[in-house]
Amino acid sequence: MSSFPSPPLASSSPRLDALWRAVQPLLPTADLAHDRDHVLRVTAWARRLAPEAGADPELAVAAALVHDLVNIPKDSPDRPLGSEASAAASRGHLEAAGFTPAEVAQVVEAVRTCSWSRGHAPTGPLGRVLQDADRLDALGAVGLARNLACAQSFAARSPSRFYDPADPLGSSGRPLDDVRNAADHFFVKLQHLARGMHTATARAEAARRQAFMEAFLGRLAAEAEVAADLAD
Ligand code: ADP
Ligand code: NI
Repeated sequence: MSSFPSPPLASSSPRLDALWRAVQPLLPTADLAHDRDHVLRVTAWARRLAPEAGADPELAVAAALVHDLVNIPKDSPDRPLGSEASAAASRGHLEAAGFTPAEVAQVVEAVRTCSWSRGHAPTGPLGRVLQDADRLDALGAVGLARNLACAQSFAARSPSRFYDPADPLGSSGRPLDDVRNAADHFFVKLQHLARGMHTATARAEAARRQAFMEAFLGRLAAEAEVAADLAD
C-alpha cells in the first residue's frame, strides 16, 4: 500500500479497505484538481454528512471513493458524461470488495448523478450526500487551488489565463468564458453551489467557503485595477 492515508471507516470495514486498495492506484496523479487528496476529502465529508441525510456512512464513503474513477478533461465535449462513466467503472470494484447487489445499485446510482455539468438530480440520500461532499471541495481555499490547477491544464491546449485584465469580475456584462478566464468559473458555476446543497451542514459550510472566494475575487479585481492604472 502507498503512503496515502486510508479513507474514514476503512479500519473497521474490510470492504472499504478492499475498495480503496483497488481504486487508489487507478486515480490520476497528473491532475491536481482530481488527485487522491480530493477523493479523500470527499470521503471525509460524505461520512460526516451521511447521518444528517439518512444515508449509510459506509456506503457514503464507498461512493466517494469511486466517484471520480473516470476523469474526462473539463474542456472536452464529453465532460458531462464523466459521472456516468465513473458509475459504470465502479460496479465491478464494488462487487469485488464484497458489497451486495442492492448496495452496489445504490452507490452506482449516487455516482451517476454526481456531476454538476450533467445536471442530474440525486434520486436518494446517498446521491445527495455525494453531491454535497463533492461540491464543497470546489469551494473555499481548496476550491480556489483546484480552479487554478484547472486553468493551468487548459493553458496547455488553448488560450487561458487567471482573469480578464480588462474586466476581472465580468462586471461589464461581457460573455463569461471559464475556459479562457479561471475567475469566470466562479460566476459560471461556483457561486451557485451553496444554494443547491441538500444538507444544512453543507449549505452552511458552502456559504463560509463562498465568502472567502468573494473576498479573494475582490482583492484580485483591486490588484488588476492598480496594474491597469499603472500601465496608463
Ligand atoms: P468533480 O470532478 O469533483 O465533479 P469538476 O470536474 O466539475 O468536479 O471540477 C473539478 C474542479 O475543477 C472544481 O474545483 C471546479 O470548480 C474546477 N473547474 C471545473 N471547470 C473549471 C473551469 N472551466 N475553469 C476553472 N476551474 C474549473
Ligand atoms: Ni470529484
